Amino acid sequence: MLHSIEYDPKHAAVAKDNVALAGLDDKVRIHVGAGSAVLPSLEQHGPFDLVFIDADKTGYADYARWAAKNVRPGGLVICDNAYLFGNLHRDDLPPGHDDVPKVAPMRAALSLLADEKVFTSCAMLPTGEGMAVAVKR
Ligand SMILES: C[S@@+](CC[C@H](N)C(=O)[O-])C[C@H]1O[C@@H](n2cnc3c(N)ncnc32)[C@H](O)[C@@H]1O
Repeated sequence: MLHSIEYDPKHAAVAKDNVALAGLDDKVRIHVGAGSAVLPSLEQHGPFDLVFIDADKTGYADYARWAAKNVRPGGLVICDNAYLFGNLHRDDLPPGHDDVPKVAPMRAALSLLADEKVFTSCAMLPTGEGMAVAVKR
């Protein structure tokens, strides 16, 4: 079963329509709401084979911690946009830049994925936006 969380009801409606068109209604559940609000209710369905994180970047540290707890051993945690639009390494972004509040949560998420006590391995796939993939210990 694939559980997907989407904050924007319009995006969720498009996703639901496409899932129905693909004939996958019985395999996909779209939950409408903020990740932080919905994730606790999904714990009962775990442990999961894979968690794919691709939502608000300020939430990545929390989402990665949740994923580390709720993915089975040998399962995957994947973070998209891991290069943070080229700003992951920047400590000199101008105040008010959109990515300033995203740098610390993204670094914290990636540090967790690179923690060998929690994950057996972690790789950064060189997609244009960076995709971090870690295997749960
Ligand atoms: C980059 S898009 C995801 C694209 C999707 N993974 C795909 O491949 O089609 C990010 C989505 O996260 C949603 N989003 C933003 N903040 C969120 C939050 N706090 N909780 C859940 N979803 C959120 C946005 O509305 C947007 O639809």
